[in-house]
Amino acid sequence: MHIAFVASECVPFSKTGGLADVVGALPRALAALGHQVSVYVPLYRQTKLTDAQTVVRSITIPFDDQYRFCSVKTAANQPGIRFNFVDFPEYFDREALYGTSAGDYPDNAERYALFSRAVLEASKVLGVPQVFHCHDWQTALVPVLLKTLYSEDPAFKDTGTVFTIHNMGYQGLFPSDILPLLMLPWDLLTMSKMEFFGQVNFLKGALVLSDFITTVSKKYSHEIQTTEYGFGLEGVLRGRSATVAGILNGADYEEWSPQTDKFIAAKFSAQDMAGKQACKQDLLKTFGIVGAKEETPVIGIVSRFAAQKGFDLITQVMDRLALEEMILVVLGTGDKLYEEMFQRMQKQFPKKVAIRVAYDNAMAHKVESGADMFLMPSRYEPCGLNQIYSLKYGTVPIVRATGGLDDTIEPWDATSRKGTGFKFTEYNGEALLATIRHALKAYRDQGSWQTLMKNGMGRDFSWNASAREYGKIYEKVRQARMAIAPA
Ligand code: ADP
Ligand code: GLC
Repeated sequence: MHIAFVASECVPFSKTGGLADVVGALPRALAALGHQVSVYVPLYRQTKLTDAQTVVRSITIPFDDQYRFCSVKTAANQPGIRFNFVDFPEYFDREALYGTSAGDYPDNAERYALFSRAVLEASKVLGVPQVFHCHDWQTALVPVLLKTLYSEDPAFKDTGTVFTIHNMGYQGLFPSDILPLLMLPWDLLTMSKMEFFGQVNFLKGALVLSDFITTVSKKYSHEIQTTEYGFGLEGVLRGRSATVAGILNGADYEEWSPQTDKFIAAKFSAQDMAGKQACKQDLLKTFGIVGAKEETPVIGIVSRFAAQKGFDLITQVMDRLALEEMILVVLGTGDKLYEEMFQRMQKQFPKKVAIRVAYDNAMAHKVESGADMFLMPSRYEPCGLNQIYSLKYGTVPIVRATGGLDDTIEPWDATSRKGTGFKFTEYNGEALLATIRHALKAYRDQGSWQTLMKNGMGRDFSWNASAREYGKIYEKVRQARMAIAPA
């Protein structure tokens, strides 16, 4: 089948988080199953292409004030996968993808509306897929356009849509006067469509108008149908529960494996763990921690500093955590509150706490390989990839039992020697601290800790099984589409 991925980021061309990892890896797993995949992403300043070719010279996107004209380039194609980049420098040749520390770019609605519409128009030239597989609010207008302005377009009569929610916390909320600017019909501004407390909600549009909805773990697919995790859209999702599925993300082990990782100090595997110690020393050096004892456990964090990730809990217990026999290394950027909190702790405990405020892929690999434990106490986590990567590196995850964290980490039981990590359920600092202490204590029994590490290293979260599940959903959508499409 021909599937078109539409997304706002994709490794190795652009990335702010796990969405890019997924859009970079899942097409390869689908191509391996025999599907033909086109990937559409914006051409950002951070996107580095060699030998790009312009394949669509000019696409006219009507806006109420004036027409905008973009083009499409292709590059880096692989067997079964074609990458298409929507080029409109005025919108995408910017310092960041979505915004800076000053806030989101004020024209994000226009930027991603142009992108979504350009994808539809480009596909008419480059090949209309059977299914558009769209990801997150930035691409939500693809299903909306197909069910409204493009509903009579014969080019799309056999085309269905699958929409994957990677994060309910980001919905694309805009003032209602955006609709006429984007030339979208006013009747979208109703409660049964895109209206949300007087505003226009892009994500809601996709949840109402896509043929099928998926999210990135089973547990999260249930959680988002509740008030606690639904961010106000739980009712919409409950209304569509027959066409909502949770499919766990995979890990790209070509990128994230201690046996082949090109960013780490020494390679290692479950059979030969010697290299992990070298990685740990390298990590401590990189983070400027000197004089640490070899047997002191290192806890690593690699994260966006966002409320989602549980940093308020870490803040609550940080003073007491710093008194434990451990070292904490933190790689992240985002909310200044947390950058400053870790910087204060680093000043106070220079031998025990180190932070690097950066977005640095090589360093992320060093943390994954060199730490003994990986901390991810998220308030909510649709899937989470870092804990899955950690398992492969023998870096034992300490997580909150939510979303994909709960689905991927099995609690360690020292008696049966089963399990892969440590988890807690109650969202409070005391539960977090108790769980970290439990892990630090378990670490002292190095014999059983080796078993715990190896349990995790033996888990297989490769994409193949999930790609097959997506394949089944595409097929379902295609058949349903064929059944209703006019001859
Ligand atoms: P989310 O998408 O919510 O941020 P995930 O765990 O799914 O969470 O994915 C995060 C991805 O972003 C991982 O590949 C992780 O290594 C990467 N990442 C996050 N913060 C940084 C950082 N500061 N430097 C480098 N990579 C980072
Ligand atoms: C989102 C989620 C994260 C998930 C990623 C990829 O950014 O926060 O949990 O792993 O998307 O699906």
